[in-house]
Amino acid sequence: MEENIVNQELLANRLIEEEEEEFHHLNNPADGIKPIIKKYLGVPNRADQLENKFYFTDGDAKVEVTVVTDEIIRVRLAPHGVFLEEFSYAVPKLEQKAIVFALHEDESEFRVSTNVVNCHIRKDDFFISFSDSQNHITSTDAVPMHWEENVKFGGYYVYCTKTCHKEESFFGLGDKPTELNLRGKRLKNWNTDAYSFAWNQDPLYRSIPFYISLNEGIAHGIFFDNTFKAHFDFGAEDTTKTSFWADGGELQYYYIHGPHMMDVVKSYHLLTGTHPMPPLWALGYHQCRWSYYPEAKVRKIANGFRENKIPCDGIYLDIDYMDGYRCFTWNRKYFPDPKKMIKELAADGFKTVVIIDPGIRVDDNYAVFKEGKEKKYFCRRCDDYFMEGHVWPGRCQFPDYTNPEVREWWGGLFDELVQLGVAGVWNDMNEPAVFGAGTFPDDVRHQYDGFRGSHRKAHNVYGMQMVRATYEGLRKLMKNKRPFTITRAGYSGVQRYSSVWTGDNVASWEHLKLGNIQMQRLSTSGISFCGTDIGGFSGEPDGELFTRWIQMGTFSPFMRAHSAGDTKEREPWSFGAPFTNINRKFIELRYRMLPYLYSTFWEHHRYGFPILRSVVMQEQDEISNHFRQDEFTYGDKILICPVLEPGQQSRKVYLPKGKWFNFWTYEMVDGGQEVTVPTPLETIPVFVKAGSVIPEYPVMQYVGEKEIEEVKLNIYYSNYEVNSFLFEDYGETFAYEQDIYLEKKFVVSGKSTVLTVQQTMEGLYTPRYESYHFNIIGLPFAPTKILADGKDVPYSIDENKCVEFKFTKNFKQIEIVK
Ligand code: GLC
Repeated sequence: MEENIVNQELLANRLIEEEEEEFHHLNNPADGIKPIIKKYLGVPNRADQLENKFYFTDGDAKVEVTVVTDEIIRVRLAPHGVFLEEFSYAVPKLEQKAIVFALHEDESEFRVSTNVVNCHIRKDDFFISFSDSQNHITSTDAVPMHWEENVKFGGYYVYCTKTCHKEESFFGLGDKPTELNLRGKRLKNWNTDAYSFAWNQDPLYRSIPFYISLNEGIAHGIFFDNTFKAHFDFGAEDTTKTSFWADGGELQYYYIHGPHMMDVVKSYHLLTGTHPMPPLWALGYHQCRWSYYPEAKVRKIANGFRENKIPCDGIYLDIDYMDGYRCFTWNRKYFPDPKKMIKELAADGFKTVVIIDPGIRVDDNYAVFKEGKEKKYFCRRCDDYFMEGHVWPGRCQFPDYTNPEVREWWGGLFDELVQLGVAGVWNDMNEPAVFGAGTFPDDVRHQYDGFRGSHRKAHNVYGMQMVRATYEGLRKLMKNKRPFTITRAGYSGVQRYSSVWTGDNVASWEHLKLGNIQMQRLSTSGISFCGTDIGGFSGEPDGELFTRWIQMGTFSPFMRAHSAGDTKEREPWSFGAPFTNINRKFIELRYRMLPYLYSTFWEHHRYGFPILRSVVMQEQDEISNHFRQDEFTYGDKILICPVLEPGQQSRKVYLPKGKWFNFWTYEMVDGGQEVTVPTPLETIPVFVKAGSVIPEYPVMQYVGEKEIEEVKLNIYYSNYEVNSFLFEDYGETFAYEQDIYLEKKFVVSGKSTVLTVQQTMEGLYTPRYESYHFNIIGLPFAPTKILADGKDVPYSIDENKCVEFKFTKNFKQIEIVK
């Protein structure tokens, strides 16, 4: 393909533009406007194979096609034939899993095929496309891959443009505060501290360059593993094109075949990893504030929970617990004896989580700064000056977390906090945020695990490497105990080290809606352990908004209320009756459902399922579902539709096909339709799939308050067979990595005269409770007897016609007979 005209003057002017990237998106070489030096792949004239890698070249540029699994193919471009060294923070180990693959060649194309996908390289013009085993094309280049030299920094701006189909929808991309379906949007990835962000504001705190396309009922994913400032255009500039491009690095992307969205998400997890199992308490309720201090205030809040009988596990110390905001220090005036306080809080069931930011105060009398300075652990500018900027502590320098030695040092700094009994760490401001400047200048240098680069390359991974250092350090220090970590910034793969929250949101109904979408989006983008600041960080919610947020938060994988320091009191009892009672009821529900959430977490950790699933993931063939963003399922059994408008007394809910039970009334409803559900302040629509077994704990004020003596199994009748799972283990150790856990499978199937429930178990863990309390919901007949492993068991029928009885946890088969 011909080279574009070089216009030196335009180029020189362009380079001094602040928003340079806006000028770089020009995908169509044939549109007559050619002000930029862009080069396009020419004609592929050769193919070489090296094990699972295939190389194509136009004589100068080279393209590498790697078969990763049957469903995943990676494409890389080397503009002048030299690939960058393989290194990725997102994909720590690229394991080749496909065994059968082959290269074919005919007159028109080269084709690399697995059992599931074909990657076609067109001989005429180097267009790359993908098809499934039925030869259905799912993705195709609209122009060949292209690039542009970066005169200022070296390297290239790299571009890939694919055809966008008329009804193609797009999902994913992390925390974007916009509609769930990204069709028609242009977005960028550059981690940004975005206080009180607005609807459509872009970018925010995280960079997750992974999206899912859904067209004609078939889904595929693109993971553009490039840490530079990256851009995505889903038919915004030109409705027929989807592009992704970056201001540097390599044009490297993974094509991930579906055909279901769930397959794509699972494969993405295979590449980038899943969350480790959290300590069970971290799935409880957390209370935060900027800031609870002094110690008396912290104790007052903790007592407030116990007095009001509102369950709570996590209590947070924001920046004011430190001495002059110096990380790893204590303000002894406010907290004279942190060890004693943390211990006493722990005795009452509270786990203390402390904030740690990356900015280290420049102060030669401060041990952390002194050591970091001596060991040269802080980031430097291109001419060797230290990177300095103002954050909470004043003038600061910043550790280079992309240096493994710095990560090791940082991890060790938590020793004292761990000795004091701290159970979790909250990493904030790690975009990295700098007052005034926003972030670091581009020329700051990073060690990048030996693959050195400027801040342009390291910016988006800085926060992820910080929380990695934190997590790995805590893991060592806490021995076999699971640490809890939460981070604001992140890049793909951050889920291996941390949970996230959506940052500084606002106490408004619009933000409640946004939070709902952001959590679904994060969950589909690899980050299932996520939540919003319940109530909104800045501004004042009224009781109704706060309660509606608590209700949604009950079904967020991470549940924490947080608020800025200049707002009114914001605890679940702060708004008086009737709000306190409703908030309590929902937080109690959170605790009752802990074994279900924990089992769902296991399915995420072990098998790569997202915890929250948008309705489109249930029924992707249904076009109207591509635009449904209010509802989601919590795991695969429970459908939630938060109430997102003030004063709403009822709302429409779409139930995917199948049969559902209204969680509150036990009424059975047919799916595949929209139903109108009453939504008085006391409830939100919650539906349970027929045939589900939902395990339940007794209400506890905190995890571990009571020895669990019995687990309740809520069994919803179904006339077709449905499987459910229950995962059990110690809840706080890493024994599960040595296979010490129990996976239970329940199979429910009903006929007109009998309902059968079977249980099978696998694993090495033995829970301490002895029996189940069965609660059979929606039985369409009056039972005459219940046989448990062949024995008659006594039962009762309550006012809701639920059938209740008890039997050993080791049962194999229950029959409820008409
Ligand atoms: C940032 C965080 C917020 C925190 C505050 C003070 O704004 O996003 O959660 O409370 O800093 O540390």
